Amino acid sequence: MEWSVIQRKVGPLLWLLVISTILALFIMHSSSTFSISIKAVLTQSPLVTTSDVSNQSPSLPANTSGVTPVHNSSSSPQLSADGNEEQCDTSKGKWVKEAGASIYTNLTCPTYPDINNCGKYGKDQSYLYWRWQPDSCDIPRFEPETFLNIVRGKKMAFIGDSLARNQIDSLLCLLSQAETPREVSRDSIGKYVTWYFPPHDFTLMVMWTEYFVEARPRIINGTASNSFEIHLDKVSTNWAEKLPGVDYAVLSGGNWFFRGIHLYEEGKMIGCINCRGQNLTEFDVTVTIRRALRTALQYISSCKDCEGLVTFLRTFTSSHFENGSWLTGGYCNRTRPLNETRILLDDIAWEIRKIQLEEIERVRRQESGGKMRFGVLDVTKAMMLRADAHPGDHWTKKSKASVNDCLHWCLPGPIDMWSDLLLATLEKNFLPS
Ligand SMILES: *[C@@H]1O[C@H](CO)[C@@H](O)[C@H](O)[C@H]1NC(C)=O
Ligand SMILES: *[C@@H]1O[C@H](CO)[C@@H](O)[C@H](O)[C@H]1NC(C)=O
Ligand SMILES: *[C@@H]1O[C@H](CO)[C@@H](O)[C@H](O)[C@H]1NC(C)=O
Ligand SMILES: *[C@@H]1O[C@H](CO)[C@@H](O)[C@H](O)[C@H]1NC(C)=O
Ligand SMILES: *[C@@H]1O[C@H](CO)[C@@H](O)[C@H](O)[C@H]1NC(C)=O
Ligand SMILES: *[C@@H]1O[C@H](CO)[C@@H](O)[C@H](O)[C@H]1NC(C)=O
Ligand SMILES: *[C@@H]1O[C@H](CO)[C@@H](O)[C@H](O)[C@H]1NC(C)=O
Repeated sequence: MEWSVIQRKVGPLLWLLVISTILALFIMHSSSTFSISIKAVLTQSPLVTTSDVSNQSPSLPANTSGVTPVHNSSSSPQLSADGNEEQCDTSKGKWVKEAGASIYTNLTCPTYPDINNCGKYGKDQSYLYWRWQPDSCDIPRFEPETFLNIVRGKKMAFIGDSLARNQIDSLLCLLSQAETPREVSRDSIGKYVTWYFPPHDFTLMVMWTEYFVEARPRIINGTASNSFEIHLDKVSTNWAEKLPGVDYAVLSGGNWFFRGIHLYEEGKMIGCINCRGQNLTEFDVTVTIRRALRTALQYISSCKDCEGLVTFLRTFTSSHFENGSWLTGGYCNRTRPLNETRILLDDIAWEIRKIQLEEIERVRRQESGGKMRFGVLDVTKAMMLRADAHPGDHWTKKSKASVNDCLHWCLPGPIDMWSDLLLATLEKNFLPS
């Protein structure tokens, strides 16, 4: 089977590559990490993997599908993101052809990041002409004015890794069609950046974290390595201490859990990921993601200074390397979305999504008084189908790094749909009172 071959070849340690240019800076940055210890309720017993998790990295080849053009922008039933209204599951649907591309281009977005400029580096542009159509409702195309009016006077933070950055870059381009954002602060390595939209008094922030919890590169023989030490019960203060004052937080993550990681709880090493031969308890990636996410959500839900905070979790998205991985020549040169019948819902990406939804459900159940609210941007399946929308070999660093990027998303592109979904979810369920 084509896909099993591909799955087996995706390596565990290579997620870093695309962002390798900032690795050294990151190490300097994270070595000054402090942490807030919280009493996370971590009842999960460690599951020892029965298989090598390094072989389970998501990768989803399939045949392409012929889809008929459809457009239906009539009003939709409630989205499911608030956990009460379940009439419309935006995670079920299909990509349909659409004549109109995005509302922005690489020429009309003032904050446009060259790293996602797939068109400039020669990528065929047919991936632009698709729209996500949920089975039981519509997600309207993003309207920057509508969004800015909803978030007037608010602060929104995207908290996560390079895919959170990818998402905020998409949102910035969308919003800049109505109002030009002003960059108001940036740390020395661009991992914490704040933009401001003066007429709407709207603040948009990106906060970098790989794991949500305290993490340090593992020092091997005096040198920082590609592997990490993470404390599953200690939220990373890097983002956590900046949370008070934020009105909307969009969390995302997962891709960094596939490398070598030593795991700690209560200051003691409890096991590891990808550490065969070290006589340690091997943890499953999914179990580890659950614990780290639970610590983050627990922190947010018990945060005293986070009055009125609404938190969204953007669900996991997989990479689409075929016939190799980051370092072994894997590529992603498809020119159409995958045929839905060919994606694997027993893929680890789907499992991670399930865990993310369960943890959101769990923290919702604990909520009392309705002060804090949690929503989901469920994009996993929609993005599983978009093997055609990564930079592949059409990106800035290709000539230097000679690797393909089959993890991040071209701009414009299907990642813009995450903002469609964010706006629709805000409108339906989380309008400020
Ligand atoms: C998807 O693939 C299946 C099996 O190969 C095929 O029967 C079906 O027609 C395809 N669907 C589309 C929309 O092409
Ligand atoms: C659009 O959707 C509405 C309900 O969601 C349905 O009544 C209508 O027939 C649809 N229109 C088209 C053109 O499919
Ligand atoms: C913008 O993208 C187009 C393809 O859509 C490409 O031909 C062009 O070179 C790009 N321009 C810049 C300035 O990046
Ligand atoms: C650390 O250095 C020692 C001595 O140079 C060497 O034997 C050992 O293999 C090194 N360990 C690692 C993990 O590189
Ligand atoms: C593995 O660790 C256990 C407990 O720490 C120890 O008893 C055992 O001897 C170790 N085995 C090897 C092969 O090092
Ligand atoms: C991957 O490689 C196999 C054998 O080398 C080939 O049959 C297949 O078409 C390749 N897949 C793609 C998407 O190029
Ligand atoms: C993708 O790349 C592979 C290997 O270079 C090639 O065999 C295949 O034809 C390409 N597919 C497309 C659609 O360009």
